[in-house]
Amino acid sequence: MSIRPQPDRVIIFDTTLRDGEQSPGATLNVEEKLAIAHQLALLGVDVIEAGFAVASPGDFEAVKIIAQQVGGAGRPIICSLARAIPQDIQAAAEALQEADRPRIHTMISTSDIHLKYQLKKSRSEVLAIAEDMVAYAKSFVDDVEFSPMDASRTDRDFLYQVLERAIAAGATTINIPDTVGYCTPKEMGTLIQGIRENVPNIDTVILSVHTQNDLGLATANALAAMENGVRQVECTINGIGERAGNAALEEIVMALQVRKPYFNPYFGRPVDSDFPLTNINTQEIYKTSCLVSQLTGMLVQPNKAIVGANAFAHESGIHQDGILKHRQTYEIMEAASIGLPENRIILGKHSGRNALRTRLQELGFDLSETDLNKAFTRFKEVADKKKEMSDWDLEAIVRDQIQLQVDSGFQLEHVQVICGDCTYPTATITVVTPDGKILKDATVGTGPVDAVYQGINRLVNIPNQLIEFSVQSVTEGIDALGTVTVRLRHQERIFSGQASDTDIVVAAAYAYINALNRLHRYLQMQPNKLQSKALNSPTSHN
Ligand code: KIV
Repeated sequence: MSIRPQPDRVIIFDTTLRDGEQSPGATLNVEEKLAIAHQLALLGVDVIEAGFAVASPGDFEAVKIIAQQVGGAGRPIICSLARAIPQDIQAAAEALQEADRPRIHTMISTSDIHLKYQLKKSRSEVLAIAEDMVAYAKSFVDDVEFSPMDASRTDRDFLYQVLERAIAAGATTINIPDTVGYCTPKEMGTLIQGIRENVPNIDTVILSVHTQNDLGLATANALAAMENGVRQVECTINGIGERAGNAALEEIVMALQVRKPYFNPYFGRPVDSDFPLTNINTQEIYKTSCLVSQLTGMLVQPNKAIVGANAFAHESGIHQDGILKHRQTYEIMEAASIGLPENRIILGKHSGRNALRTRLQELGFDLSETDLNKAFTRFKEVADKKKEMSDWDLEAIVRDQIQLQVDSGFQLEHVQVICGDCTYPTATITVVTPDGKILKDATVGTGPVDAVYQGINRLVNIPNQLIEFSVQSVTEGIDALGTVTVRLRHQERIFSGQASDTDIVVAAAYAYINALNRLHRYLQMQPNKLQSKALNSPTSHN
């Protein structure tokens, strides 16, 4: 039994694409997952949990493509989740084949409540399955992570036995999930200490935690676990995930950075060591947060720690006075440290393609020639209406571009609205179907957005229920770009879309089409897909 050298920093295991995607409505398609995985690699995460390969053909494809395109030599470890079931492990192994450093993460519930009501298995059966399935995963890859689900509510002696057997069978990382977000930080510390003291072979593996946020304690629990010897944390961008979500990557990383002198001794370092405690390039945090929010349609609450719109805003007079006299009176970290761009006004309608390319490169967007041309066309359209374009406007344009690339399907060709206090709000809409048919309609609604959405619904004809509509201003001022986010429900699933424009009715129309395109794609992948009747619509013209 050889002791595994423990890293003197924290391994960041990002599960945005697996647990994060389990947030209702956050469903991502393969291209979107790939775009996020590329950004996670730039951010510097150590492990990307790319999905749950057996869950659907889309999940399998996403893990496979991420393994191929993001999991090369010197890049992050690519991981797939697998229940402790042979088919799951086989699917994970197959999807991960092209990763330079593949990891299979296998899990089985261990708490009595899960065993009795969900698995309907005895403790001895679970013990045997855990051991066998870790060994089976090990027959495909060297790097096997094992999670005893609902560990924090599991009988301690049974938990120690399961862990010992999983390690003996070949697990290299042991992950302790607080699956229902039940622990307090002190309890988490005691749980980890107990494992370290009672599992004889625990020093041969990396110890990890997965903390859910049901009581708002996910980040605190992850940090408490680290203080007790855990060296890997599972987390997601913006803290998205099942129910109330997971520990937020940005919170953990910035806590370790801002409070380095506090955490250093837990990692065996001198208090004043300046060596980073994670491999994360913090300057990529803001961009990653925006990308995940845009593609999942999960808005970041304004008061969210680190990445919320108010995180670096100072409203009270006393605070503003302090900040003006000496920043650190009220600021514990700089906005620049997470890559939050200053809202500099930089370009206008006379700026050329080169100026746009240069500024986008400075902001970290390296666009292909085709994408730059598309972004430039959009930039000119917006700059015609809005004289001065700030960095935040440019980012909104590029993020729209990313979404449009992945949302090919129905295209909105034209939207026009007449509204006011003495007329019926009326919308005229032109939509091009995925196979090139041009559909037109005019509709009356209770307001301009209702008229537009009714018109689009009549043309596209995919049943859905709009469950959320929100508008956020990208910058200040009456000529600001507005970003519209919509979420719609079809049966039990939720789909989101987002778009920005100086005209919020136009942004609303594009956001709706984006969400419908995701729903349309989903339906096309279903065996008994519900066909859009748009192609037979009487209003269609070739
Ligand atoms: O919440 C949980 O228990 C999980 C495990 C698979 C780590 O997501």
